[in-house]
Amino acid sequence: MTIIGTPKETAKGENRVAMTPASARDLQKLGHDCMVQSGAGKAARFSDADYRDAGATVVKTVAELWEKADIIAKVRPASAAESKRMRKGQTVVSFVYPTDNKDLIDSAAMAGSTLVAMDMVPRISRAQKMDALSSMANIAGYRAVIEASNSFGRFFTGQVTAAGKVPPAKVLVIGAGVAGLAAIGTAQSLGAIVRAFDVRPEVAEQIESMGAEFLMLDFEESGSGDGGYAAPSSPEFREKQLELFRKQATDVDIVITTALIPGRDAPILWTEDMVKSMKPGSVIVDLAAERGGNCELTKKDEKIETPGGVTIVGYTDFPSRMATQASNLYSTNIRHLVTDLTPEKDGKIDHNMDDDVIRGATVAHKREVTFPPPPPKIAAIAKPAAKKPELSTEEIEARALADKRAAGMRDTGLLVGGALLLLLIGLVAPVSFMQHLIVFALSCFVGFQVIWNVSHSLHTPLMAITNAISSIIIVGALMQIGSGSWLVMVLAALSIFMAGINIFGGFMVTRRMLAMFQKS
Ligand code: NAI
Repeated sequence: MTIIGTPKETAKGENRVAMTPASARDLQKLGHDCMVQSGAGKAARFSDADYRDAGATVVKTVAELWEKADIIAKVRPASAAESKRMRKGQTVVSFVYPTDNKDLIDSAAMAGSTLVAMDMVPRISRAQKMDALSSMANIAGYRAVIEASNSFGRFFTGQVTAAGKVPPAKVLVIGAGVAGLAAIGTAQSLGAIVRAFDVRPEVAEQIESMGAEFLMLDFEESGSGDGGYAAPSSPEFREKQLELFRKQATDVDIVITTALIPGRDAPILWTEDMVKSMKPGSVIVDLAAERGGNCELTKKDEKIETPGGVTIVGYTDFPSRMATQASNLYSTNIRHLVTDLTPEKDGKIDHNMDDDVIRGATVAHKREVTFPPPPPKIAAIAKPAAKKPELSTEEIEARALADKRAAGMRDTGLLVGGALLLLLIGLVAPVSFMQHLIVFALSCFVGFQVIWNVSHSLHTPLMAITNAISSIIIVGALMQIGSGSWLVMVLAALSIFMAGINIFGGFMVTRRMLAMFQKS
């Protein structure tokens, strides 16, 4: 039986906890025993009694916890004091940030303990449930908007009140990764006008589907890199980008920056002159503050106001400011990782270094430093399809002309064929039949041309028109259904049935479409 233990976080101001009573219950279902240091969950509002109720053991001292637990689950990288407690055969799971904490990895390797970095879980679909960086960034994006609104002296949403008209706030989000998309969603739901920019063009669709505007940069360079992250931009691209932001600076009220490439310093994207040109009362929340910030004037862990009245928030502890929520999500990420480490659900740990996710996250194992990991076998995002060879303008024109000619010949052939067919039928059929046949053929032709050429965006109004046509068909069929001929009766009944399907089906589809936009 393995004991999973969670100590109280030692970093100043850290309110999160890596195990909640709920996650303790789930971990026990995998055959493990759970242990917490007394008071570990207090700052996240989980009492010792809650843990005891969940079946976990509460121990008094940190020394006892580190001594007894086989797996230590914590949030922040182990401190120097904590790393001295690591022992052979023990697994420590936490955020590690390996490029910044080489000493920690070395001491884990030297002690013979296994160090698993939650921030190194590869961003592949299977590992999403363990992606703690994303679950924390999601909270940071949400909280960044709430923090911005706290410092912003106006409503986010536009209002028309008896006391006057209030314009909506304009929010610009730079970097539409996990935190950026969460910020876009939150600002959008508060009623602001949201614009967003990212160097990866593939996020444009996601931004637009959330109702925000994607700021396009007229520049031939894709910023997409490996693993779903961005690639560094060229100096020319950056210049163009700054030009775009300079124009936005005078217009927007709130800027939320999240632009970062893992393992690098944050690029400066919001310069001092942009801050100066912003309206007084504007707010900048710099989520990249931890890595130097995207805004030139950001002060890490501080909220400052410039002489021009612009507030700049550089906090780096947004998830900790929502400790209950963050602990719930983080402990769930840990629980999923432990599930992968316990494939048989029998309380026995199988640290399978052939597994992409476990290998990727393990930075020290069996007295060896195992960072950096080899690239995962599965790419995070499929590479874009190879481009078709470019054609010259003459070639494009020649192809278009040939297509047009072929279409013309096909249409003429069809017309001549149709006319001949009508002539042949006319030789044998009575006059009244021919009149009806010609009207029928013409309406088929006109109907086909009208419907086939309608663009997708007009399909909903088109449905309304087809409903109107169906109604006419029903009226016509009702007039004929009393006819003496059984054939006419059957045809009329069939018409009513089919037109009925069209009308009721149309209503049902419309209902479903509207339900998609309704908030529950
Ligand atoms: P992510 O990697 O998912 O997103 C970053 C986005 O920035 C990507 O879409 C990338 O394409 C974009 N980007 C990179 N370089 C850019 C450039 N030059 N111009 C425009 N866009 C660019 O990262 P995630 O998880 O969304 O985190 C975002 C930031 O939030 C990170 O800096 C992270 O450290 C920070 N964060 C801050 C917290 C806090 O409390 N302050 C808490 C959690 C995360």
